[in-house]
Amino acid sequence: MCGIIGYIGDRSLKEVLYNGLVKLEYRGYDSAGISVLSSEQNDNKIATFKATGKLHHLGEKIKNEKIIGHLGIGHTRWATHGVPSTVNSHPHNSSDNSISIVHNGIIENHAELRASLTQKGYKFLSATDTEVIVHLLDDNYTGDLAETLRKILPLLEGTYALACISVKEPDVLVCARKGSPLVVGLGKGENENKENFIASDVSAILEYTDQVIFLDDNEVVAIKKDQVKVWDENHNLKTIAPTTIEWTLETAEKGGYAHFTLKEIHEQPKVISDTLKGKIKGNSAVIDEINLSQEELENISKIHIVACGTSYHAGLTGKYIIESELRIPVEVDVASEFRYNNPIISSTDLVILISQSGETADTLAGLREAKKAGAKTIGIINVMGSNISREADGTIYTNAGLEVGVASTKAFTAQLIALYILTLFLGEKKASISEERRAYMIENLQKLPKMAEEILKMESTIAEKVSIFDGAISSIFIGRNINTAIACEGSLKLKEISYIHAEAYPSGELKHGSLALISDVCPLVAIATKSSTYDKVKSNIEEVKARGGKIITLATVGDKEIANISGEVIYVPEIDELFSPIVNVIPMQILAYYTATSRDLDVDKPRNLAKSVTVE
Ligand code: M6R
Repeated sequence: MCGIIGYIGDRSLKEVLYNGLVKLEYRGYDSAGISVLSSEQNDNKIATFKATGKLHHLGEKIKNEKIIGHLGIGHTRWATHGVPSTVNSHPHNSSDNSISIVHNGIIENHAELRASLTQKGYKFLSATDTEVIVHLLDDNYTGDLAETLRKILPLLEGTYALACISVKEPDVLVCARKGSPLVVGLGKGENENKENFIASDVSAILEYTDQVIFLDDNEVVAIKKDQVKVWDENHNLKTIAPTTIEWTLETAEKGGYAHFTLKEIHEQPKVISDTLKGKIKGNSAVIDEINLSQEELENISKIHIVACGTSYHAGLTGKYIIESELRIPVEVDVASEFRYNNPIISSTDLVILISQSGETADTLAGLREAKKAGAKTIGIINVMGSNISREADGTIYTNAGLEVGVASTKAFTAQLIALYILTLFLGEKKASISEERRAYMIENLQKLPKMAEEILKMESTIAEKVSIFDGAISSIFIGRNINTAIACEGSLKLKEISYIHAEAYPSGELKHGSLALISDVCPLVAIATKSSTYDKVKSNIEEVKARGGKIITLATVGDKEIANISGEVIYVPEIDELFSPIVNVIPMQILAYYTATSRDLDVDKPRNLAKSVTVE
């Protein structure tokens, strides 16, 4: 949703805050701002700079500003309450400019709070829910900002990660979180005890430290240059051991690629190997992070998969993998629907939550619903220390590294690998996959990094085929069986970054209505790689050809026949159908990427979207 950064220390404030926001811009890019405690002439004042639009507008605004100080906060916004505008952008300051805050989340009872503060004479400048917090801090200020924050938090309903500074306490940065992520970065090496950071995620501070403290919900933290104090929800001081982050700084840089999305597409061979690494030993899958007993694993009689967007498509793929190998029924639900559908969950069910960020509000709510029903829960998560990974009974981390592009690519392939690993793991624990079959599956999994590399070598050939979308206003993606999920993912990638409408279907469904849409401005993208249903898909493509449709097909290398019915063909290496989703999704991502760039669009930051959706 929004991105937060904060710093206390002697580095250039402008640089730390702005560079941090650059790394966090993927979380929201409607507007941005910073507040710094400026200590020129030893006279503490809060100076706030804000700009609407992408972050570089703020960059231009502060470029020539002399910013001297050692304490500051910054924010990049994805609007929820109040249109994107300078006045609605964060930070928000108290009327006397003595307190400044940034906030990520939603204060659900903001209207009541606003009414009561207005009665007390507070004047609101913005339409945001956030502004109530700064006036509450001002109204309740005790002379100790951390204490005041602890005092007002029970008044706030909803979610927040927030950071505040005050001219009256120029040596402390005070923060809190509930339902929205916030990490504390600790000064390291020579700078130990000389500086500290806060950020919505580690990417913003990775260039300074890999030592972080993950805060829990309802905790408040007071950060000085040389001290970090954390209070739990009962206002008791607590000690939290720092975690070492293994992501490298390179993951937060474009590394010569035009866009993060393209870089992340290219990282997939490595991501596949990294996700497999350490989790395959001989013919077994080893997952240390699953805290379920042998008995609990044996008793699993039904599986639910709950996720959103691309992660939901990983779930759809997972259903095919698990059902075909384990013969356990799997239900896949869009997380925003799951808990409202009165789901039937029993204590022997396993609920798998798939989420790149581990903080998607609906998926997190799905996890809590599942736990309430007594089910066992496992997260397939990319971001370490995230909410879902901490609340689930077990987590399989996808080693995709930081994913910056709003369109998820490498996280998706990593999620699929995690699902294969989980299937192998459950298959062995429940004695439902023979050792021979496991060996076969592992052999295939190990072929995938090389195959992904081969596909990436065809990037320019695939890029040339985007002319199929010239003049297109819509498109239809088809697949069958396990590749229906990949058709869904391919269509999501296309709409999300190229803004061409796309729908996906199991190919046999086309003739039941959607075939009517096929025209010059609505091409067909078909997945027809070798499979048990290859002939059926081919017939469906023929039906489109017979009606003059423009067609591009993903086929298995060596399939000459398909070229006679499809105008354009992208050939991929041959692999068992069960593993074909990984091979098939990469060309789909490349196709969407080059369609978007051919339309000159900002691929990394598609309009109206944000990377993590921490609100319902
Ligand atoms: O962090 P999550 O995996 O929970 O995010 C779920 C969706 O918001 C996400 O996959 C979204 O659909 C992507 N923009 C798709 O590319």
